[in-house]
Amino acid sequence: MQLSALFRRDRPLIGVDISSSAVKMLELAQSSRDLRRVERYAIARLPRDAVSDGSIAKPEAVEAAMREAWQTMQTRTREVALALPSAAVITKKILLPKDASEADIETRVMAEANQMAPFPLDEVSLDWQILGPAAQSPADNEALVVVSRRERLEERVALAEAVGLKAVIVDVDSFATLNAYEQMAHQLPEEGRGQTVAIIDIGAHATHVSVVHDRELVYQREHALGGHTLTQEIARRYDLSQDDAEDAKRKGLLPDSYESEVLQPFLDALALEIGRALQLFFGATAYNAIDHILLAGGCAAIPGLDDIVHSRLQTSTLIANPFARMAVSSHVKARQLAADAPALIVACGLALRRFDPA
Ligand SMILES: Nc1ncnc2c1ncn2[C@@H]1O[C@H](COP(=O)(O)OP(=O)(O)OP(=O)(O)O)[C@@H](O)[C@H]1O
Ligand SMILES: [Mg+2]
Repeated sequence: MQLSALFRRDRPLIGVDISSSAVKMLELAQSSRDLRRVERYAIARLPRDAVSDGSIAKPEAVEAAMREAWQTMQTRTREVALALPSAAVITKKILLPKDASEADIETRVMAEANQMAPFPLDEVSLDWQILGPAAQSPADNEALVVVSRRERLEERVALAEAVGLKAVIVDVDSFATLNAYEQMAHQLPEEGRGQTVAIIDIGAHATHVSVVHDRELVYQREHALGGHTLTQEIARRYDLSQDDAEDAKRKGLLPDSYESEVLQPFLDALALEIGRALQLFFGATAYNAIDHILLAGGCAAIPGLDDIVHSRLQTSTLIANPFARMAVSSHVKARQLAADAPALIVACGLALRRFDPA
C-alpha cells in the first residue's frame, strides 16, 4: 500500500515499525553501487498495552516512543515509511486485461473493494498494484488490491505527524517482511531459489508466519503466542512485576532453576506451536514441505531456540539477519545490531522502500 505519487526515489527514508513491544526505526543508505549500509536505527520500548492486537490503544505512549526513537536516531530525515498490521487489511489478487484503460481499472478496483470491505467505501483506504503478467491468461495482468479501514491508516499517519514526521509510504507488515526477505535470502543456499522458506517472526504478543516460495509470499498468518507469555511466567514464578520480569529475561538475570523449569517448557511449547503453524500451512495450500525456517522477532534471540526448532521439526533453521550483506555505518554499534537484527525485519523491509524504482 504505497502512496507512491508522493514518494520521490532515493530520498532518505526511515522505516518505522510500530509493534506491540516497541517503536523501531531504521534508516538505510546506498554505500556503493552494490552495497547498502545500515545508517542508523533506534528501538524505543513501549509500555504494555500501548499497542494491542495491532491497534493503537494509548496514542500518547506511542507518540512519546516515536519521539524518543527519532531523537535517538540523530537524523534530519523526516520522511517515513509505516506499516499497517496484516490483520488490519484485506488483500485480493485480481486479473486486469493488459489493455485496460486507467478509467476501466479504477472502476474495476472500486467494484472489487466494495465487495472486499465489510464496511462502507467512504470509510475505506484503497490501493492497488499491478504485479505483472498473469501466468494462466496471457491477455491479463495480475494485480493486488488492498483495502483497510481508513481510520487504521489515519491513526498511524497522524502519530507520525504529531512528532514532526511525514508518512510518505504506508505499507503492510507482511509485505515489509517479504521485502526484507530479499536480503535474508542471501543467508540461504542458492539464495533460496526454488525453495520454500518459512519466516517465523516471534514477537511479544504474536508469532507472524510468512511462507515465501521463490520470493513470492504464498501464505501468511498470525498466531497468538509470543515472548510476553514467557515474561508472564517469569513474573508469576519469581514473584516479580511484569517490567522487572521483562528486564531480567532480556539480561539473563534469573535463578538457576529458570532454564530447566521455565525457559525449557516455553521453548518446547514454542517449537510445538511452530510445528502446528506449519501443519496449518500444509493443510491450507498445495505445499507439503518447508526447505528452511528463518527465525525472526525478539524471541529469535533466545539461546537454543534454533536448535530446538531444528531438532523437533527436522528442518534447516537459521536466525534471520537482513543485514548480513550490508555495511554498517560508524554511528551503529555492530554487535548490538547483530543482536537486534531479527527483531528489525519489518523496519528493514520498510526502510528498503527507499530503493524502489520510482
Ligand atoms: N535477549 C532476549 N531474550 C529473550 N527474549 C527476548 C530477548 N530480547 C527480546 N526478547 C523478547 O522478544 C519480544 C519482543 O520481540 P519483538 O521486538 O520482535 O516484538 P514486537 O515486534 O514488538 O511484537 P509483535 O510483532 O508481536 O507486535 C519480547 O517478548 C521480548 O521479551
Ligand atoms: Mg514484530
